[in-house]
Amino acid sequence: MNFSLSEEQKLIKQAAKDFAKQQLLPTVLERDELQKFPKEEIEKLSELGFMGMMVAPEYGGSGLDTLSYVLAMEEISKIDASTSVIMSVNNSLVCWGLEKFGNQDQKEKYLKPLASGKKIGAFCLSEPEAGSDATSQKTTAVDQGDHYLLNGTKNWITNGSSASTYLVMAQTDAEKGHKGINTFIVEKDSPGFTVGPKENKLGIRSSDTHTLIFDQVKVPKENRIGADGFGFTFAMKTLSGGRIGIAAQALGIAAGAYELALDYAKQREAFGKPIGGHQAVAFKLAQMHTKIEAARQLVYKAAWEKDQGLNYDLSSAMAKLNASEVAMWASVEAVQIFGGNGFVKEYHVERLMRDAKITQIYEGTSEIQQLVISRAILQE
Ligand code: CAA
Repeated sequence: MNFSLSEEQKLIKQAAKDFAKQQLLPTVLERDELQKFPKEEIEKLSELGFMGMMVAPEYGGSGLDTLSYVLAMEEISKIDASTSVIMSVNNSLVCWGLEKFGNQDQKEKYLKPLASGKKIGAFCLSEPEAGSDATSQKTTAVDQGDHYLLNGTKNWITNGSSASTYLVMAQTDAEKGHKGINTFIVEKDSPGFTVGPKENKLGIRSSDTHTLIFDQVKVPKENRIGADGFGFTFAMKTLSGGRIGIAAQALGIAAGAYELALDYAKQREAFGKPIGGHQAVAFKLAQMHTKIEAARQLVYKAAWEKDQGLNYDLSSAMAKLNASEVAMWASVEAVQIFGGNGFVKEYHVERLMRDAKITQIYEGTSEIQQLVISRAILQE
């Protein structure tokens, strides 16, 4: 067993940490308040090669392993989880799926600009009546010979308006159930495609989340990913890796809240000494440190399993379930340690607490992770 990072992984972690501190921290409060998309920040992230971290260099990516991606996600999420979800969706849900299952033409045309960060991608599975119950797709794609006609609505789509390339799941044959679902690459300027209203959210406020409407959208047949009926498997396999990214995001939120609370506990005085000198606060910090380190091991192990070519469906679900619960708990504890200041925006912990909540919901709620885990262990 080797718990040390390679020199390259250490460099990636440091680069992400520096980027978050220098480029994200100065603007994060304003962007949260105004729900302002981090356009310039994402352009700089692209220059660092962080929008297609795991994609092979021949397709415009950085050719790094999953653990490097996790390290970058963790550092960026300590400061700004809105930026990290934009990055995570592009890396895990869009680029990874296209590289793994797209054909050569799709990779040349769509993956290259996405992996280099020239374009941003979105993953469109959720619908008004198909969130956790993802097999119940109501969006339809009717085969018209050389193209499909897409009709339907997608909900809560991250990068909804900032994306140029959308991976859209739709039902092509309702009688076949989930085996009739396909995934299509849809370009933003396709006639009939509309970006609906932006959601006003509790957390990750500077990422853009939208409803998308497809009204008789013509999608060329060559834009279907994989064989006919592969779309749901595509979504599930892609989400397994996505969950490692969100687990890393949750880990970063927890660690960011903990680091702020630790610093504060050393400086803030009450009853004649730093509050960290009181067991009520010191023991909270001890619990946070321990639970965050335990969460880190599960997240890194899931990334390691993926890099080893092992099945990581179970470990990614466990990593996400645990890290998101730890993020929610640790960020609430951090607000408590900050007391009245914790309730004030400029101290950052209330934002981390708001951001933590979504990690228990998106890319599979905590309840769905428990479904995946329980099915896996009962089958063993
Ligand atoms: N890999 C490959 N195939 C898989 C799979 C996996 N990891 N998990 C399930 N499948 C297959 C099953 O084997 C089954 O196929 P067969 O019938 O051929 O065996 C098929 O998928 C359907 O699975 P189930 O029979 O288990 O269906 P179910 O309805 O009981 O459960 C579910 C499915 C696990 C609940 C699934 O719907 C699910 O994961 N739901 C959560 C959806 C989700 O995570 N949404 C996130 C939206 S994206 C997002 O949040 C992005 C963002 O903005 C940040």
